[in-house]
Amino acid sequence: MFLFFFILYLRTSAALLVSTQIRVSTRNITCQNGPSAGNLIFNCEACLVIARNYDIRTTLSITGAGPTGFTYACLQVNQIEAYHENLVRECNDFPAGTLNGYDDFCVASPFNKLRGSYRACLCSTNACNLNYSECVQRTKPYWDQKPPTFSNSIRLLTDRVKCYRPYEDYRPQPYSSLTALCATNDLECKNFLFDHGVACVISVDRTNQITRQTLSPSIYSAQLMKFKMTLCKSFTWTSKSIYFTQCQYDETICMCAVDGCDIDLETCRTSSAIYTSIRHYSFSYFLLLILNIYY
Ligand SMILES: *[C@@H]1O[C@H](CO)[C@@H](O)[C@H](O)[C@H]1NC(C)=O
Ligand SMILES: *[C@@H]1O[C@H](CO)[C@@H](O)[C@H](O)[C@H]1NC(C)=O
Repeated sequence: MFLFFFILYLRTSAALLVSTQIRVSTRNITCQNGPSAGNLIFNCEACLVIARNYDIRTTLSITGAGPTGFTYACLQVNQIEAYHENLVRECNDFPAGTLNGYDDFCVASPFNKLRGSYRACLCSTNACNLNYSECVQRTKPYWDQKPPTFSNSIRLLTDRVKCYRPYEDYRPQPYSSLTALCATNDLECKNFLFDHGVACVISVDRTNQITRQTLSPSIYSAQLMKFKMTLCKSFTWTSKSIYFTQCQYDETICMCAVDGCDIDLETCRTSSAIYTSIRHYSFSYFLLLILNIYY
């Protein structure tokens, strides 16, 4: 009985987006930006400083990747969610509910031959990332009595999904804006993605060339955000897919989270959770179950 309700409940979890609203910029602050200190730029939404003990070279981690030492970044409004989400996932105790925070114990996401740890601090006042200790101070109540709250617009995916394998490997295409996730000959990286995917991507360019990718948790939200906010002008969605049109180079891109849903564009576009319509009931069952446990 328990199992039945539980399965029902899991199968009905909702769409890829929590909200279809576009995150709007609420501040224009100055941040230090680049691989070394001294370069200040404005029009930032948040400032980031990361300290790595050694090189972390993996395209499959956005916060972890980079050279040894300090790196500074001005994050634009369309970048903060992916960075924030990665920090929450990769760090011991990075706050999920506020925009700013710091953590001394973060581990870069797989896949990486040079796996590594780092410290990161995200802050949201002018020139707050001049150095790490300054940034940490600026996230404390003295500087920021009301830390800006933060909520995700993308639902985090944790269930493994098997994407279409035969054409999975990325080949650079002149009319596709998908960028390579693994080096062409890096089978280890490709196998890692195949085994740890949470979403599949299929793109068809203006010459009908098909490109497919498997996305792991550490890059999924950055990619989704890129299609949604930068590369494509419109999208439609179901409970398990998002279909982007009017993209750069006339490409059509679809992202989905059901096994094998990237076999073709139409399958991707119409992918959905099978039991969506009984969501309401299963949720009631779930509540009943909880009540039964407690009373
Ligand atoms: C942001 O601030 C800078 C410097 O104060 C200013 O020059 C720039 O126009 C501002 N940008 C926006 C979008 O308001
Ligand atoms: C960090 O930056 C602040 C503000 O510019 C400065 O006062 C402080 O000396 C710096 N600390 C280090 C360790 O460089």
